[in-house]
Amino acid sequence: MRLETDRLIVRTFRPDDWQDLKVYISRPEVMWYEGEWESSDDACRRRAQAFADSGAFWAVELKQTGRMIGHVYFGQTQPEAFRTWMLGYIFNNEYHGYGYATEACREVLNDGFRRLGIHRVCAKCALQNKPSWRLMERLGMRREGLSPKAATFRQTEKGQPIWWDELTYGVLEEEWPVQADSASKRTSRP
Ligand SMILES: CC(C)(COP(=O)(O)OP(=O)(O)OC[C@H]1O[C@@H](n2cnc3c(N)ncnc32)[C@H](O)[C@@H]1OP(=O)(O)O)[C@@H](O)C(=O)NCCC(=O)NCCS
Repeated sequence: MRLETDRLIVRTFRPDDWQDLKVYISRPEVMWYEGEWESSDDACRRRAQAFADSGAFWAVELKQTGRMIGHVYFGQTQPEAFRTWMLGYIFNNEYHGYGYATEACREVLNDGFRRLGIHRVCAKCALQNKPSWRLMERLGMRREGLSPKAATFRQTEKGQPIWWDELTYGVLEEEWPVQADSASKRTSRP
């Protein structure tokens, strides 16, 4: 699959994206709310292959340079009958603050609502992860609730889990304003 926006190509993740992936998943400041991911060359190759195989990961490429600057996760949750998809994203911090993540996620949601018969899209993040929940709000997602101490990706020096309060955001099919002009930019490739 391949989607296009003014500044971005948003396409199915490929195994050869591993080097661009490695750049940002090896940065603790990017991965603070994700937990540590192994970032050796081998681990990144394996992860890129797994992302590509899953079909749920979109690579975001800057048109101007061809560089892969981040990825979007968009996968169906269980049970299937709920027709609910989960959204996630990690972007290289050299490219934060330009609206690229919002632009990419909006296009992935447009495509999903148009093509997949989605009823609801949800996303979760730590309450402290303001850039993440601001992105969801820019997309027009609704804050649905706060689950106290629901997630942990970090430990204290003594090995005790550090619990984070977790926000859930959501948007329903009838609430999503699919952008009319983006349909013309979509091209599907098997
Ligand atoms: C979450 C994350 C993707 C958000 O990135 P981001 O750069 O803040 O989001 P966007 O790309 O949409 O950019 C929005 C910012 O660019 C600014 N901007 C500049 N030009 C813009 C444009 N043309 N269009 C829209 N926004 C623009 C916006 O004002 C906004 O800045 P602000 O937050 O200071 O107001 C990023 O922080 C990240 O990758 N974090 C690490 C991984 C992570 O925590 N993932 C989430 C786990 S739940």
